[in-house]
Amino acid sequence: MDADVKRKGPMSLKPQFVTVSERGLKARARSRRLERAVYRAYREGRQTIALIRTDMREIETIITGFTEIGIPTTTLTPAAVVSRPARHVREALSNGAGVVVLPLAGGPYWQEQVVGALRYSLALPAPRDLDREEAGGLDAPVPAVPLKLAMLGCGVVGSAVLEALLAEAGHVTVSAVMARDLERHRARFPGVQFVHELDELFATSPDVFIDLGSREAPSLEAMRRALRAGVPVITANKQVLAAHYDELKGLAGETPLAHSAAVGGSTPVLECVRHLAGEGLVEIRGVVNGTVNFVLSRLAAGASLEDALAAARKAGLAEADPSDDLDGHDAAAKASLIARAAFGRTPQEPVLRERLAEALDRHQAAVAEGRLRQITQVAPDADGVVRARAEFVALEADDPLLRCRDAQNGLVLRLRDGRSHAVFGLGAGGRPTAAAVLADLEDILHARVRSAVSDRAVANG
Ligand SMILES: NC(=O)c1ccc[n+]([C@@H]2O[C@H](COP(=O)([O-])OP(=O)(O)OC[C@H]3O[C@@H](n4cnc5c(N)ncnc54)[C@H](OP(=O)(O)O)[C@@H]3O)[C@@H](O)[C@H]2O)c1
Repeated sequence: MDADVKRKGPMSLKPQFVTVSERGLKARARSRRLERAVYRAYREGRQTIALIRTDMREIETIITGFTEIGIPTTTLTPAAVVSRPARHVREALSNGAGVVVLPLAGGPYWQEQVVGALRYSLALPAPRDLDREEAGGLDAPVPAVPLKLAMLGCGVVGSAVLEALLAEAGHVTVSAVMARDLERHRARFPGVQFVHELDELFATSPDVFIDLGSREAPSLEAMRRALRAGVPVITANKQVLAAHYDELKGLAGETPLAHSAAVGGSTPVLECVRHLAGEGLVEIRGVVNGTVNFVLSRLAAGASLEDALAAARKAGLAEADPSDDLDGHDAAAKASLIARAAFGRTPQEPVLRERLAEALDRHQAAVAEGRLRQITQVAPDADGVVRARAEFVALEADDPLLRCRDAQNGLVLRLRDGRSHAVFGLGAGGRPTAAAVLADLEDILHARVRSAVSDRAVANG
């Protein structure tokens, strides 16, 4: 670390400021839209101050949504928003809130007052108006022809995504879902076409393919097929991606191969890394395996490894064979995807990884004190060679990653000029991972609208 950085000490990045309003939508659509809009802003890698013009009931629904997907959120009371907003916002930000929600019941006059007070006291630029930006996604007017989606997998993540997509009927339609146990899925989702074969899935000519399968087969083949046909892909499958990244990226060309959910669940790991890559990112350090972190939390509470794993399986976090997680393969695959996003290349040597079983022997005291975490670290060395490791570390009491408990993930990104940014969320589970998949889908929808607008502009001369 250079002398200048040492002198300045760590500083946080400036937060971003956004406004969004209910815009007269129907109640259910309204809270979904507000939650989605603020989450997509949070994905961009800054603490987010969100001034939301809606009523308190709506705000409570949004907060429940953020809690379910694991975004650390502080909500001010309407009275605090109109009296001394800057003081409360500053306090919430320094306590580590990812999103600070400011509910505003009044009209444009009050909005102007609050925006003015915050900009003046916190030296913020004018807020981004998400109402304008969101107009292109699932919140745009219902299109004449809905977007056709095909999915592989209807397990923990797939079923959460499917549930959310079915609520968006009109904008999207699910043409088919591929799985193994079709009867079970049909009983839960009557009306959805479930199929066994890739041929049947792609015979529905989807506009977007969502891969939520659990293994290489048939996910890899399905992604190849989609990308060869120019169909955008969204996947949560980090093992397949990390192992076949160059091939899949090559096939994709300009076609989106979105994979936010592959690292961090709802924690916007790859988005933050990409946003900060151009600002002199020198190190990424984080907890990126929710299952291992959940097991460590149980061990700290006195459970045996066997009981901790049983609890993780019961919570839908661990597979029957948890070796991918416990032996560090999962964290290593994620480290490789983080290195790509941050530095444009994979680590030169295989990611150094440590097995949980070995670490538990070495760190008995730290386990009992709740200080042991599996830390994934990615950074270039002095020669610019990217190195990555996933090992168990007994953290100091002031380490921000100690905040990661249970299935929570967190990341600290350090910049060359001494600034740093921490981001948190839930690293595993159906609903948090589905939030990342849906945000990727929104990105694709927005890009389509942008490209249709520019095509029209070209056509009109
Ligand atoms: N769970 C999480 O918290 C989490 C978090 C981040 C990323 N991810 C990633 O998300 C993906 C899905 O995870 P998950 O937890 O939802 O897995 P899961 O519960 O095991 O579901 C996997 C799905 O894939 C289907 N499938 C597997 N092999 C198949 C085959 N040969 N043919 C047809 N269908 C097949 C299964 O069908 P049946 O249901 O019919 O057996 C099941 O619906 C994985 O890549 C995982 O690494 C998961």
